[in-house]
Amino acid sequence: MKIKSATTQKEKEELDRLLWDVLWKPLNLPRDIRKTFRLDSPEIELIAIDSDAAIGALVANWLSEKKIEIRHLAVRQDYRKKSVGKLLIEELFKLVREAAPLQIQTFARNDSVGFYAKLGFKPVGDYLEHEDFTKHGIRFQKMYTELL
Ligand SMILES: CC(C)(COP(=O)(O)OP(=O)(O)OC[C@H]1O[C@@H](n2cnc3c(N)ncnc32)[C@H](O)[C@@H]1OP(=O)(O)O)[C@@H](O)C(=O)NCCC(=O)NCCS
Repeated sequence: MKIKSATTQKEKEELDRLLWDVLWKPLNLPRDIRKTFRLDSPEIELIAIDSDAAIGALVANWLSEKKIEIRHLAVRQDYRKKSVGKLLIEELFKLVREAAPLQIQTFARNDSVGFYAKLGFKPVGDYLEHEDFTKHGIRFQKMYTELL
């Protein structure tokens, strides 16, 4: 298994497909829903590959020179709890470390708060709701960590 930046068209398409399969298809959201979440700022796209197939994906955006937001993180169901998510986040940290000190934030789904907490992220404020997600029992917790 290796983690790399999604640079080729094929890698970008595989990343997009994986995010869709894991995060939004199960909620019956439109195939192009990711467009509505896009930020107009520099983006980092990482994929985890095993046996030539994408099994994990992370998308993060620079919000400012000292702040990054992890926008999407997904690991294929059959590869969970094998450190793929952790390795994707560690690769992000490695890539951006030069800009430290740096704040990294995310809006974690309620069922992934424990995952982010294990990686040192702390919750801030109350749970947030989004109409497309609330009906599926999903709420979001803003969390952050500092890269020093
Ligand atoms: C959340 C997700 C990315 C975690 O990926 P993963 O590859 O299974 O996680 P890892 O194996 O790297 O786990 C790292 C640590 O967190 C723990 N962990 C993983 N998922 C967890 C969860 N949902 N709740 C609590 N702890 C969790 C692991 O047990 C492991 O702990 P350890 O170091 O003590 O062994 C994955 O479950 C996923 O894609 N979920 C669906 C989509 C999602 O919720 N995305 C993120 C929110 S937008």
